[in-house]
Amino acid sequence: MIMSNGFKAKRSDAQHGVRFRGIFKRFGEGPQALTVINNLNLDIGRGEFFSLLGPSGCGKTTALRMIGGFEHPSEGELLLDGEDITGVPPYRRDVNMVFQSYSLFPHMDVYDNIEYGLRRKGIQREERRKRIAEVVGLAQLEAYLGRRPTQLSGGQQQRVALARALVNRPKVLLLDEPLAALDAKLRSSMQTELRRIQQEVGITFVFVTHDQQEAFALSDRVAVMRAGRLEQVGTPHELYSRPATRFVADFVGQSNFIDGRVEPEAPGVLRAKGGEVIPLPAPAEAGPRTIVVRPENVALYPAKPAQLPADVALLRGTVLENTFLGSKHLLRVKTSLPEPLLVEASHEAVNAVSGGAVAEVWLSWRAADSAILAD
Ligand SMILES: Nc1ncnc2c1ncn2[C@@H]1O[C@H](COP(=O)(O)OP(=O)(O)OP(=O)(O)O)[C@@H](O)[C@H]1O
Ligand SMILES: [Mg+2]
Repeated sequence: MIMSNGFKAKRSDAQHGVRFRGIFKRFGEGPQALTVINNLNLDIGRGEFFSLLGPSGCGKTTALRMIGGFEHPSEGELLLDGEDITGVPPYRRDVNMVFQSYSLFPHMDVYDNIEYGLRRKGIQREERRKRIAEVVGLAQLEAYLGRRPTQLSGGQQQRVALARALVNRPKVLLLDEPLAALDAKLRSSMQTELRRIQQEVGITFVFVTHDQQEAFALSDRVAVMRAGRLEQVGTPHELYSRPATRFVADFVGQSNFIDGRVEPEAPGVLRAKGGEVIPLPAPAEAGPRTIVVRPENVALYPAKPAQLPADVALLRGTVLENTFLGSKHLLRVKTSLPEPLLVEASHEAVNAVSGGAVAEVWLSWRAADSAILAD
């Protein structure tokens, strides 16, 4: 884009990947030891905006701190650019971290805060000036250089913290819930900023959050963690449309889960509890299986549709509940399945079924819009 600087040049001539190989992290000793990271194997590509997503206590910060060198693995190897950095101290790693609390120096103005790391590294004055101008432009801090951190808003402090880390041109930037302290609106505009900055500098960003929406809005790929283990890694779209587990499906949006069996002679369909035969997105191994269908993929009809392709599920139901969400409705519909189905429907679709005295509705979805869970 606009930049002709040190950042871009770096992207092409080095490998900026982070690789976790068989990493365990335990806190404490002996039988009291707590395993916080449990056999983590993960590759983060160079230049990726990568998020670690998961509920509180699942080990996100611990994983991030290991990349930074602030925690050491109990077992396993950590590689940066293909080089083993497992035992390398934080100040010798080409990695910078942006903390949730920003940790700016309160007695220094914005310029000095950004310059501090470069001075410590003994970077020459002219080079310092050049690099600072670059990140100040990126983070749009021109108007605030003479201010102290206490004279800045939360969002401005956040941008200083970011500039202070980027000025070192690390291979990897680590961000631990950096937007958590901001209000909803500022948070959303900082998300846009972060994404823009990451794309301009091309540095690998590893971002920690427990907010699914935030992870999806920002990331090229996301790792969903649960109790120290990786649950699934993929693009936001993959995680949403093909969640591997019930946990991931639940964590990344609302879902309908349908339990049943696949018989050896009919690998293409699920025999649900309740007797329905539901087409699968792909042939599955025989045995108990669960599929997931998102509420927005379920279509609502006032009468049985005349013609449907073979790979479409069709169920009859009655509406139990209709919640108006502003731009759409969320219905709970009782069918022959044990659990009611959640259905997202437009005003038009809801009017069509509730305009007359329709007690009965029909639901359908394309098999390709459902996913078979691995667990
Ligand atoms: N120094 C430590 N000593 C003992 N236990 C620790 C230590 N640091 C973290 N833990 C424990 O490890 C687990 C994972 O902590 P971690 O901070 O990585 O979670 P997190 O996913 O970042 O959670 P949050 O979203 O709440 O920040 C927690 O159960 C925590 O109590
Ligand atoms: Mg944390």
